[in-house]
Amino acid sequence: MLRKEQNDMLTQTGPGTPMGNLFRHYWIPMLHAEELPENDYAPVRVKLLSERLVAFRDTNGRCGLIDEFCPHRGASLWFGRNEECGLRCPYHGWKFDVEGNCMEVPSEPTESGYAKKIKLTSYPVVKRGDVLFTYMGPPDKQPPLPEWEFCTVKPEQTFTSKRLQECNWLQSMEGGIDSSHVS
Ligand code: FES
Repeated sequence: MLRKEQNDMLTQTGPGTPMGNLFRHYWIPMLHAEELPENDYAPVRVKLLSERLVAFRDTNGRCGLIDEFCPHRGASLWFGRNEECGLRCPYHGWKFDVEGNCMEVPSEPTESGYAKKIKLTSYPVVKRGDVLFTYMGPPDKQPPLPEWEFCTVKPEQTFTSKRLQECNWLQSMEGGIDSSHVS
């Protein structure tokens, strides 16, 4: 039986935790590709490693994963309008691209350069097979793209499904490798 401190250390994965740092060295599956089916589709909430984020696919088909909350007054960008290559905050209209760069602050003239000083946390997104993966770690430590077989075979040779399991990663893994479940 684990002590509470051991359990916390193994299961907590937020920023700055030991296991959070470890997980942030890998590409992490974040959505089924079907969940962002077309350009300018409604944004999707994603909670990964205790970070609340929002994913969207822009007008040019680029997928992004950015902080869910607008840096102005904290409105949720999940309610935002996905339009013309960016996600526009529903409150005062600040607009962000897939890399978290602020494209526009409607109350400020473009020449002021104000928008250029604003950036949201953002993570790269890649599609491998039917899965969208993200990498949340230091850019200089980014590993090669996932090359599992299901990512590389033809679409008719693979099947991807997703389910929600309300537990931590260790409970899930422990259940998955429990030999009594094989039968
Ligand atoms: S809260 Fe987003 S623009 Fe003001």
